This record gives sequence, structure tokens and C-alpha cells, in this order.
Amino acid sequence: MNDMLTIAMPKGRIFEEAADLLRDAGFRLPAEFDDSRKLIIEVEEENFRFILAKPMDVPTYVEHGVADLGIAGKDVMLEEERDVYELLDLHISACYLAVAGLPHTELNEIAPRIATKYPNVAAAYFREQGSQVEIIKLNGSIELAPIIGLTDRIVDIVSTGKTLAENGLIEYERIVDITSRLIVNPASYRLKDRRISELVERLQPVVKSKQSVK
Ligand code: PRP
Repeated sequence: MNDMLTIAMPKGRIFEEAADLLRDAGFRLPAEFDDSRKLIIEVEEENFRFILAKPMDVPTYVEHGVADLGIAGKDVMLEEERDVYELLDLHISACYLAVAGLPHTELNEIAPRIATKYPNVAAAYFREQGSQVEIIKLNGSIELAPIIGLTDRIVDIVSTGKTLAENGLIEYERIVDITSRLIVNPASYRLKDRRISELVERLQPVVKSKQSVK
């Protein structure tokens, strides 16, 4: 039986690398895949349906089973803690989560404030450090917060380090390394195991060969 697979893809910076991986694994994806505003794209020849979602929402679609599979950053997985399985580390979109702030500043001792898109990860990190902090959730441009005096520090993604540098911020602590993962809904994994295993088997060597040239 050749079941249709629904795959949630993250729009934005991971998308291109994820699409390249699928193409390198021999899946034929149409050109419209790359620059369409469509949110659902069916690829009949491969029996795939792609959902184009906000990165933070990918595990939600997969947990609820409306997508069988998804591609999600480890940052999103740590923040969302959804009931999904991680099948494969795709080793794409490598970056890390860090604590950053203005140089030569101490954390406010009484009520340090932290701005982040990752309130759960940040709260857990400072709890483990034994620091009591107030987390302020922002949805983007996190680097603004210390510059404008909203918070003492930020917890955010660092990729090239350019955003921190251009805004006069420095990194204080590195929290965790991040790459993107192939994730699966547990029920889909049981019901569509043959197709899903085939997908993983085709992706694995591509991931490996890309890693060896890095
Ligand atoms: C991410 C992250 C940093 C930046 C890091 O933001 O939140 O701001 O990228 O990348 P760099 O180290 O290569 O400069 P994104 O561009 O996704 O947008 P956002 O500010 O809306 O979150």
C-alpha cells in the first residue's frame, strides 16, 4: 500500500536546506515548492503532501497527526515538548542557543529580566543555574530588548553571530547546540512504517555525505 505522507515543512531559514536534502535524496519536488505562497503543496508523483508552517508550529501539526512527519529545529522541540518522536538528526541549520547581553553588565541581582522567544527553555536554564529571573516573551528581534533597556539579557539563537555583533551585544553563555530534526507522529510511525522507513533510509546517506564535506 502506497500511503500518502503529509510532511510539515518550516517556512523560513530552514526551508531551503530541508528542500535540498529531499531533492538530493532523489525526491522530485516541483519548482513551485520554493517560491510559492501556497500553504499546502501536493506532489502526486511522490505521493507527498507538504504543509508549509511556521517553524514553531511544526511539532504541533505532527503531534495532532494532521502531518505524519515534520522538520523542526531542536530549539523548537525543546521549547514545545510535544509528543512526537525524533527520527533523524538532519544536521542542517546548525546554530546554538545562548545567553547574550550588553558587554560589561552584571545581571541585576534582585530581579534580572530575560527576553526570549523560548520562555520554557530559558526558564529551565536559569532554574538549573539557581537564578531567579523574570522571563519576558518576545516574538522576534530579541536583540532589541537589552539595547532599549527592557531586559538584562536575552536567550536567543546564534548562527553566524552577526546580529549580536552588529547590535553591540556579546555572548555570555552557550546553552545548547541546535540542528534540525525529522520528527514523526507516533501513530503514523506505526501505520505507515514502510513508507517512513524508506524516506529515512533515503535521507540517511545524504545527511552523512553532506556532513563529511562540512
Ligand atoms: C534569528 C535569531 C537571531 C538571528 C541570529 O532571528 O533570533 O536574531 O537569527 O542569526 P545570526 O547569528 O546569523 O545573526 P531571525 O532572523 O530568525 O528573526 P527574528 O529576529 O524575527 O527571530
